[in-house]
Amino acid sequence: MIIIKTAEQIEGIRKSSKLAAETLKYLSQFVKPGVSTEKLNELGHKFITDHKAIPAPLNYNGFTKSICTSINNVVCHGIPCPNEILKEGDIINLDITTILNGYFGDVSATFPVGKISPEAKDLIDTTRKCLNDSIKSLKPGKLLNDCVGKIIEPIVKKKNFSIVRELGGHGVGIHFHEEPFVFHFNTNQEKVILKEGMIFTIEPMINASPNCQITFDRRDGWTIRTLDCSLSAQFEHTILITKTGSEILTKL
Ligand code: MF3
Ligand code: CO
Ligand code: CO
Repeated sequence: MIIIKTAEQIEGIRKSSKLAAETLKYLSQFVKPGVSTEKLNELGHKFITDHKAIPAPLNYNGFTKSICTSINNVVCHGIPCPNEILKEGDIINLDITTILNGYFGDVSATFPVGKISPEAKDLIDTTRKCLNDSIKSLKPGKLLNDCVGKIIEPIVKKKNFSIVRELGGHGVGIHFHEEPFVFHFNTNQEKVILKEGMIFTIEPMINASPNCQITFDRRDGWTIRTLDCSLSAQFEHTILITKTGSEILTKL
């Protein structure tokens, strides 16, 4: 069941989403060679709790940290660690989910560490474009797939990159992960019609090689990587469907 949010819920989710976006912006200044992902986790944890919120990943299905930090070939759900140190040329996705007064906001972005290769920059720019073009097309009455999968697939095909298919966006706000599942590729498996008051994420994960295969780390139970070690980028926003289009709740 897709929850249509009330005005009161929307206000709460808007506040939580804004805090998630502020946390992401705050952390971005520390993304530099030499910093550990554990340090980013500590700074993120403190910022969120200092703002009277809870980091949603902490203890979520056994996740042990407060943010996700996914470097280079890590697609998502990277676990911060003291001996994982950022180096010049890396790319890193920071994924922040806050719970403020019981409401969830979810946002992520991929950042360059110092100077990066033109290929890495192209992957980041393309992935950001996938999210932004998709958001621009959102409107009540349209099919979700027409606004997300059908928009993203041609952008990625043209670049010879690939879309991660196993993971997707999700309804969010009252719970961490709600219906609908948001496919980032074109599919006829889903016929969701957008309605005013829906809130969900769009969070394309794009891999820099044409045939994306991913692997799941059986030892830590979380980290997802590209099988061929190619780079992976991701951007995510929490979005409200409005009467005339959409509102990005995780935009500052
Ligand atoms: N924030 C992620 C998402 O966009 C989910 C992370 S789950 C965690 O859906 F446990 F790894 F934090
Ligand atoms: Co999400
Ligand atoms: Co997220």
